[in-house]
Parts: sequence; structure tokens; C-alpha cells
Amino acid sequence: MTFRRALLCSIVVSSVAVFLAAIARGNGPLPGVEISAGPAQMSAAAIDELKAKFRRPAAIPFPKSNPFDEKKKDLGRTLFFDPRLSVTGTVSCASCHNPNLAWSDGLERGVGVTGIPLPRRTPGIVDAAWLTALMWDGRADTLEQQAALPITAEHEMGMPLDVLTKRLNEIDGYKTLFEAVFPGKEINATTAIAALATYERSLVSNKSSFDRWIDGDELAIAPAARRGFVVFNTTGRCNKCHSGWRFTDDSFHDIGLRSEDIGRGKFAPPSVTIMKHAFKTPSLRNARISGPYMHDGSIKTMEEVLDHYEKGGKLRPSLSPEMKPVKLSRQEKDDLVAFLETLIGPPLAEKSPELP
Ligand code: HEC
Ligand code: HEC
Repeated sequence: MTFRRALLCSIVVSSVAVFLAAIARGNGPLPGVEISAGPAQMSAAAIDELKAKFRRPAAIPFPKSNPFDEKKKDLGRTLFFDPRLSVTGTVSCASCHNPNLAWSDGLERGVGVTGIPLPRRTPGIVDAAWLTALMWDGRADTLEQQAALPITAEHEMGMPLDVLTKRLNEIDGYKTLFEAVFPGKEINATTAIAALATYERSLVSNKSSFDRWIDGDELAIAPAARRGFVVFNTTGRCNKCHSGWRFTDDSFHDIGLRSEDIGRGKFAPPSVTIMKHAFKTPSLRNARISGPYMHDGSIKTMEEVLDHYEKGGKLRPSLSPEMKPVKLSRQEKDDLVAFLETLIGPPLAEKSPELP
């Protein structure tokens, strides 16, 4: 049994236990109840107001320049799993963004065609449709812009775009597939990338127990997780950056890790101190409850993540003003973890398609 599966089982078991206990007492937690999490207390009205900020959007945003089309999505899926998109023919997008590993690779730092570890950890790509800045340092604005980066990067797929175009045109099966989606258009990097981006936008996280709670099912998450939600939004100060339904402000912060990587700082004028060592706030949905965490994979466990926020990170001029040491009791830490676990929904499964 994998750790994640064990965790899911334990979540299921514990929510069943809570449910049964509630039934046994005949006084289960009712909607609109106050929550007291150590020193942090929240009235029922304040909690309802807060919950509204975490509601999932109803539809996936597809840009006008690359609208959704079922066949385009299917072509994108085929390309995503095809190792022939790499110069060696051995590495596909799915090699690093593996559906069985939460669309990442479980490694501290990704490894591509050269076997040399990449400078940064591979993020998961579920809910990518909502990203407004891509990559840890935000160097791409759209999925269309992003896709060319791993294809051409020397240590990822190492594939020049003209060679990619030539290779795709030599695969007979792709002629039919591209013609069905882009009639009369060439098979080239632009059409391939449009299909890849459409597929990526279709990867939306499944609803978790947290979403059911937000939707009004008070019993969907255990009391510990409800207290953790309050800690997250009050004494823990996590919501200062991990805000909204994806638990990110889509912005960049230096949280005071030891890494020398200047992140977003590379794209800001040297006078903009605050962007040095700043990285994009990652979503905490389906957060790797088992690590490694952060852009450099430097933190191994959730307990260490919480320790980091308690200390407040390395003091330096770029340290985010939102990084203030927080004091968390043992109970608050356990409640926070119980809450973060409710953000794990059923895994978004995908099978490797048959390649043309
Ligand atoms: C060798 C491993 C590897 C391969 C292959 C790879 N990626 Fe990635 N991917 C990464 C890493 C590492 C990052 C983060 C890089 C950074 O921020 O500097 C990333 C970032 C991303 C992001 C941005 C996510 C975010 O939250 O900002 C997307 C989207 C993405 N990859 C899609 C793809 C697609 C599409 C392909 C295939 C064309 C692909 N990747 C191939 C390792 C890989
Ligand atoms: C100042 C903004 C800020 C605050 C406050 C904050 N975070 Fe973060 N968080 C970030 C950023 C930015 C990263 C990525 C940093 C990096 O890799 O350099 C991150 C990373 C993480 C990660 C790792 C996720 C991953 O996929 O690697 C976890 C887990 C996390 N934060 C949880 C929390 C919790 C719990 C709290 C509250 C105790 C909190 N954060 C408070 C901005 C913040």
C-alpha cells in the first residue's frame, strides 16, 4: 500500500469514525457552528464568510485563442505521453509529470534526457488552467508559452522545435490526428503545443472532503480539520499567501529558505529587493503530504514545513513582510495537518494512451 493510499484510507476511516460517533451521540456537529481552535475562535458567521472564499469555480477557463475541443484534448494527451517529443525518444512530459505520482515525479529535483538533475523540483500540473504565472519563478505567462520550455531545455527534453516539427511529420498516425483537429494546418510546434495546453487545462482536481464541507456538508471533515482551517486562516497566517480555492495568491514571496536561487529576482530590476529569492506560492491542493517540498525539494516532511513557518525563515532584506514567526501548539500543528489532508481528493487518474 502506498503512503498516499494509506493516508486516504486513514482519512476515510477517520471520517467514518467521526460520522458514527456523531450518530451515536445523536448530536453531530451542525451547520453554522462556532469553532474554537486554541486561542483562535471564530463565530459561525465569520466561518461562513471565510468558507465562501474557498468555493471552487464552476467552469474551466479556456482562452479564446485556444478554445476547448474534445479531439484537440485527446491529441494533447497523446503528445503528453509520447517520449518521441524528446531528442533521445526516451522522455515524455509524463516522465516528470506522472499521473501516478500526483502529476509530478516524487523527486527532490527532476531528471530529463541528460540525467543531470534540474535546478528545481517538478510541480504537479493539476488545475493548471487557472495559473496566471507559470514555473516557480513565473517566467511563462500561459500554458502555450510554457510548453516550449521543457521541450527545448537541454536537461529536460532537449528537442529543438524544428526537429520536433520534422519528427511529428514523419509519424503517419499523427497526420490523421492533427488533420482532424487542425484541418488544413501544418503539423508544427505551434499546433502541437496548442493541443498540449488544451489537454493540461482539462486536468482539474477531483473534489475533496474539504470541498464537500465548503458545499455545506458539515460532517464531511472531522472537528480537528475544522479547527485546522481556523488556525490556517488566523494564528497560522498561512492564508496571507495560500489564499482562495487553489490555496495560492499566484504571487511570489521569499519565505526565507536557505537556497541561493534568486527565483523571481532574475526578472526584476536589481533594485527590487523583495523579488530576490521569491518563488511562486504553490497550491496546497493535493499537496504532497509526503514531500519533498519547496522549489528545491529541500524540506522533507510536513512537520519540518511547520517548523520553518514557526521560526519565520532566514532574515534577509528580501524576506516577505508576511513571514512572521508564528507560535503553534502541538494541537494546532496536528489540526493544521488534519486540515491539509482534507485537501487531498481522489487522485486524478490517467492511463497512457496508445501512441500512433
Ligand atoms: C525532466 C522533467 C520534466 C519534463 C520532461 C517536463 N517537465 Fe514540466 N516541469 C518540470 C520542472 C522541474 C518544472 C519547474 C521548472 C521551474 O520552475 O523552473 C516544470 C514546470 C511545469 C509547468 C508549470 C507548473 C506551474 O505550477 O507553474 C507546467 C505546466 C509543465 N511543467 C508542463 C510540462 C509539459 C507540457 C511538458 C512536456 C512538453 C513538461 N512539463 C515536461 C519538469 C519537467
Ligand atoms: C509569505 C507567504 C507565505 C506564507 C505566510 C505561508 N506560505 Fe507556504 N509557501 C509560500 C511560498 C512562496 C512557497 C514556496 C517557497 C519556495 O519553494 O521557495 C510555500 C510553500 C509551502 C509548502 C510546500 C508546498 C510544495 O508543493 O512544495 C507548504 C506545504 C506550505 N507552504 C504550507 C504553508 C502553511 C501550512 C503555512 C502557514 C503555517 C504557510 N505555508 C504560510 C508562501 C507562504
